Amino acid sequence: MNENVKMLEFPQRGDDRGHLVIVEGMKDVPFEIKRIFYIYGSDAEVVRGQHANRRSEFVLINVAGKSKVRVRDGKGNEVVFSLNRPHTGIYLPRMIWKDMYDFSEDSVLLCLSSEHYDGNEYIRDYEEYVREVQKESSQI
Ligand code: TYD
Repeated sequence: MNENVKMLEFPQRGDDRGHLVIVEGMKDVPFEIKRIFYIYGSDAEVVRGQHANRRSEFVLINVAGKSKVRVRDGKGNEVVFSLNRPHTGIYLPRMIWKDMYDFSEDSVLLCLSSEHYDGNEYIRDYEEYVREVQKESSQI
């Protein structure tokens, strides 16, 4: 698997008033945060994602509840991460295929992105994704 795919742990500054978790761009995540979106109300059997991004990097954090994300690198490697703690997240570099699934009823999946939304940089066909990965590898 791409060695840059990794779980991140964020600083916690909770006290007797409750929890507080900090996520700063270029500090706690390795990019400037240009976009956030969040996913909730997905049934347990739903599979989301099912795409790779040519430019966007992401950090996914289950700020409530839990879900899983299966990541693939287009070279035959596949890893499943469980997202179930609000102070941890998974970093996904560009050109990583991701499927999010197994959403708990209370799941709120917060997604931070390095880019504004541009549908043209999404690859939604797995075969096309593998072709582009192979093309990039052959250019290195
Ligand atoms: P989609 O990428 O299918 O969501 P997910 O991968 O999380 O399952 O996005 C669903 C719709 O929302 C699709 O029509 C594109 C749109 N969308 C935006 O307009 N802006 C965004 O930042 C995102 C993530 C999606």
